[in-house]
Amino acid sequence: MAERSGWNKNLGMERLVYTHRPTSPLQPISISRAVAAYIHFFWAGLAKQNQTGAFFPSQRFLIEKMISPIPPGYSGQIVELGAGTGALTVRLARRCPEARILACEINPTLAADSRHNLMQAGLAGRARIVTDPAEQLLSKMARNGLEKPDFILSGIPLGHFCHQRTTALLDAISHTIRKGGMYIQFQYSLIDRRRIKASFSSLRTVPVLLNLPPAVVYYARKRAGY
Ligand SMILES: C[S@@+](CC[C@H](N)C(=O)[O-])C[C@H]1O[C@@H](n2cnc3c(N)ncnc32)[C@H](O)[C@@H]1O
Repeated sequence: MAERSGWNKNLGMERLVYTHRPTSPLQPISISRAVAAYIHFFWAGLAKQNQTGAFFPSQRFLIEKMISPIPPGYSGQIVELGAGTGALTVRLARRCPEARILACEINPTLAADSRHNLMQAGLAGRARIVTDPAEQLLSKMARNGLEKPDFILSGIPLGHFCHQRTTALLDAISHTIRKGGMYIQFQYSLIDRRRIKASFSSLRTVPVLLNLPPAVVYYARKRAGY
């Protein structure tokens, strides 16, 4: 059984050392932090499937579809719910250098991986990752009268939530987003399509087959006038 011993300064920030207990016949091994982040995600998928909703971070085509409606020159607020290891956050921060990105991730290990991946990409100053549940972040934003975002992106596994929790989260998202703003959510089934449609004034659903697993992206628009 491996025991995490922390950063090995001699190897620099990219290397994470897993040191085996002295009784183990195995020698200490080191693996790259990127591989460690994949393992963390996979493990979270195994151990907390209802919370993680997947075994792998989103891949290129899905990420592109998620961020494509956001203009590269957008300079307002973007909120991301369920950042995982930051696969989407990093691409978003690179695409929109002037945007203020606030992301939340409930799993502290994955949140730390997100921060690290942003730092590795030289984008640490462009996005803030908080280890809050999405519901808490949205209610804090409402309570403190924070700027309303034009875009809320989410990979939260709604399909694993109970009906009440999904409805409450969709209400909070719809309440938090600016009039005319867009909620962009991916999901691996169409299970919540009807509920999302009922909470927003328009909905477009786009399949993304080139992802493991294949997904759909919902583009839900809040009416400009209410
Ligand atoms: C399907 S993964 C998507 C991760 C990442 N966005 C990606 O595309 O690779 C869903 C993520 O949402 C996180 N999550 C689940 N429920 C959450 C909640 N209530 N608040 C914040 N994050 C949550 C999980 O820990 C997981 O990392």
